[in-house]
Amino acid sequence: MDNRPIGIFDSGVGGISIWKELRAKLPSEDTIYLADSKNAPYGEKRPGQILDLSIKNTELLLKKGCKLIVVACNTATTNAIDHLRATYPIPFIGIEPAIKPAALGSSSGKVGVLATRGTLSSELFHSTAKNHASHIEILEQEGTGLVELIEQGKAQAEETRALIRKYIQPMVASGIDHLVLGCTHYPHLIPLLREELPERVRIIDCGEAVARQTFRILEKHSLLSGRKERSIHQFYTNKDPELLSLFLKGEDYQVSYLDF
Ligand code: SIN
Repeated sequence: MDNRPIGIFDSGVGGISIWKELRAKLPSEDTIYLADSKNAPYGEKRPGQILDLSIKNTELLLKKGCKLIVVACNTATTNAIDHLRATYPIPFIGIEPAIKPAALGSSSGKVGVLATRGTLSSELFHSTAKNHASHIEILEQEGTGLVELIEQGKAQAEETRALIRKYIQPMVASGIDHLVLGCTHYPHLIPLLREELPERVRIIDCGEAVARQTFRILEKHSLLSGRKERSIHQFYTNKDPELLSLFLKGEDYQVSYLDF
């Protein structure tokens, strides 16, 4: 048993979609969440910069005593997870676009992937697509601008709807029956996406799978918490605590500003 917290980091508020799944699946675990909103979006940065930011976030979480780190950002996972796993002596959980379940479930043989440039151009993305979806057609779309809008608290705004429409229409016209959300910010867009997509298109994100994998790894390494009292959740942002609180609506947690 190990009552140290789970660390989670993202380029901003996107990883909150993962944190919610973790808390539901692992209610006894304490967590520390870092929102590196000051440096969002990661998806537009060079691989070396993404790696440096991932190292900075990891070292802060290690200083805070985390026993496992969830890299709750697709772009950071694809660009940094191998290095993090090889360098630090704790387990890391990464986020990969859920191409496999989409490919298995597709009857049209066409699956859309909406992700950042940093994810779509990464080696990990291409090997995942090759290994799990070589029999289907993958239509890739960069979601340029979407992370910025979400980070401005505009996940439900009309300008966000207009951009979503522009990005999904060509994929829908090509006959996709699944849309994979390849960025942890994008589940915040599901209400708008659902309104804009035809009913036949299933939206796939990986939050639940990440929570299941985190449970498996904690169990395998005897790291599950034995906490009986209410778990503790700390949130840190290097930009706007109010924005992060907005995404935690309905949750009774304190968000603190931290210069990292
Ligand atoms: C970004 O910061 O560009 C998005 C992060 C992600 O890929 O999940």
